[in-house]
Amino acid sequence: MSAATSGPFVPASGAVAVGSDHAGFHLKTELVGALHELGFTVLDLGAHDTSRCDYPDLAVAVGQAVASGRAAWGLLCCGTGVGMSMTANRVPGVRAAVVSDSFSARATRQHNDANVLCLGERVVGFGLARELLAAWLSGAFEGGRHQGRIDKLHRLDAPAA
Ligand code: RB5
Repeated sequence: MSAATSGPFVPASGAVAVGSDHAGFHLKTELVGALHELGFTVLDLGAHDTSRCDYPDLAVAVGQAVASGRAAWGLLCCGTGVGMSMTANRVPGVRAAVVSDSFSARATRQHNDANVLCLGERVVGFGLARELLAAWLSGAFEGGRHQGRIDKLHRLDAPAA
């Protein structure tokens, strides 16, 4: 997978699993375009239109794609990003973050090694969402003391049934 040759520095690579509910469908469509422009392989798990659906179904699908290694990253869009993040974080191995500012978008990679980004179509415009996505993809995990904290976090994961 290649990073962008112009525009924001985007070193991350690998397939990105994406999902939305009806309220995040248009934002997902926009960001699938952005990911393609950046050279990423996109695994679009739906929704495929604005028919009403339940965000947990898509959050679990994307979370499992990331946790299993089928995708390196996950991107979830709903009305606020909140329901998606609450659900995705219940999938063991997922570290999902909902953000609406660029500092947090980058920091959640640097400090939290977030592997799923959640955005709210009713919260951020398309331009800001593209910036948030690029900032998140640009952040590099700093390891060290942050790894120990992530280890503690994942000790809270429910054992696989
Ligand atoms: C759907 O109306 C809305 O509740 C959902 O997209 C999301 O914002 C929930 O967190």
